[in-house]
Amino acid sequence: MTNSLTVGRRVSVRVPATSANLGPGFDTLGLALALYDELEIEVLAEPGVQIEVTGVGAGEVPTDETHLVVRAIAHSLARYDYALPGLRLVAHNSIPHGRGLGSSGAAIVSGVMAASGLLDGIVEVTEADALALATELEGHPDNVAPALFGGLTIAWTTPDGPLHKKLMVHRGVSPVVFVPEHVMSTALARSLQPESVPHKDAVFNVSRSALLVAALIQSPELLLAATEDRLHQNYRAAAMPETDRLISALRAAGYPAVVSGAGPSILVLGSDPAQRLGAAELVAVESETTWQALMLAVDFKGSTVELVST
Ligand code: HSE
Repeated sequence: MTNSLTVGRRVSVRVPATSANLGPGFDTLGLALALYDELEIEVLAEPGVQIEVTGVGAGEVPTDETHLVVRAIAHSLARYDYALPGLRLVAHNSIPHGRGLGSSGAAIVSGVMAASGLLDGIVEVTEADALALATELEGHPDNVAPALFGGLTIAWTTPDGPLHKKLMVHRGVSPVVFVPEHVMSTALARSLQPESVPHKDAVFNVSRSALLVAALIQSPELLLAATEDRLHQNYRAAAMPETDRLISALRAAGYPAVVSGAGPSILVLGSDPAQRLGAAELVAVESETTWQALMLAVDFKGSTVELVST
């Protein structure tokens, strides 16, 4: 690396939680939710990283250069031929870890946005560059696209990299996320996916994911039919039996419930705010373990970065 950043440069970053898949839109659809991780990052004169974490992950996540935010900063700076400088990173995390709310995607996007802010005025990191950098680390674009851009995103990959389309969500759409105390590994969930699926199941998901985009932006009353899926949730159900049982109960009662990302949280895409309360009552009655209900607005802004000191 030939270039280095100015000592004292400081940025603050805010990144929303996300729910990916939304039922049929496996590795494609994602929704940004108003629950945030916030960070401040400063370039230090001396090498090495100093990391302070409060909130979710405090005392658990690494506090050296293997921290995911630092890895994402290093990955992004390297793309523009900048070395990782000494850094002080202060993180205030609210996004639960290992629950299917995009915490790893948020950490990666935090690093990409921090690098973009640190390079502000020197190198322009475009939206397409940011999505490419984040997807390289995450492996699939469906969490990092809404974390970067907000709203509902359709993300797809091409030989030239990932692309996205951002859409606004109908104001009636009322998400509630049910978060259990136990975690689920995305790697384990992905290992349960078969190499191929029956053609009729592929057609089933093509129809539902097309309908889901219409339901989310225009016709929320279609959300129950539009959130049906045959591509991933059944294959993963045995690894998260309570999630599966609660989703069946919610859907049987008319609530558009899906696994949030790779689970184990449940996302209900209510078609009006009142549906959230009914769903919460049902989960409280039917659950055998503790589930936290988070009634979250859709985030339309996505990630922000501010240059606090040049
Ligand atoms: N589409 C991803 C999956 C989201 O379900 O595996 C979680 O990273």
